[in-house]
Amino acid sequence: MQKDILDRSDLELLIDQFYKRVLSNPEISFFFTEVVELDWETHLPRIVDFWESNLLGRGPYKGNPMHVHIDLNKRSKLEHNHFEVWLQLWEESIQANFDGPMAELAIKRAKQIAQLMQLKLQSPPSL
Ligand code: HEM
Repeated sequence: MQKDILDRSDLELLIDQFYKRVLSNPEISFFFTEVVELDWETHLPRIVDFWESNLLGRGPYKGNPMHVHIDLNKRSKLEHNHFEVWLQLWEESIQANFDGPMAELAIKRAKQIAQLMQLKLQSPPSL
């Protein structure tokens, strides 16, 4: 049986696996390589921080993913199918490496955030 997501090193492995899938995916890789030219040495630990805060209730993440994706959406539109692919790759990366309540929660949280993001991207900016 596979282990659950328990600490930062588990998240590092997960994020590494997830981005390998993202970067070899023909439908969404361009966001990360062309729309934004990411500095991976900064981005990867930031994403690990985000999930450490979100799932493990600790971690140094201070940021606003909604604003980041609203900006991204202005540069290149984030469509519903992009979110579907993103979530599919996230779920695959988790299921290939982990099993347990935290792994389930990571899938559930990502779906909730993706839903909220899509709502925010549709609604007009608040005054
Ligand atoms: C269509 C799906 C998505 C695409 C193409 C996408 C793409 C990106 C890109 C290109 C960045 C870097 C932006 C920059 O640094 O300027 C980014 C940042 C980030 N994304 Fe996404 N994303 C998607 C969905 C999601 C979802 C569903 C989540 C959370 C569950 C998420 C979490 C984050 C976080 C935490 C950051 C870092 C924000 C920061 O720097 O503080 N993304 N995303």
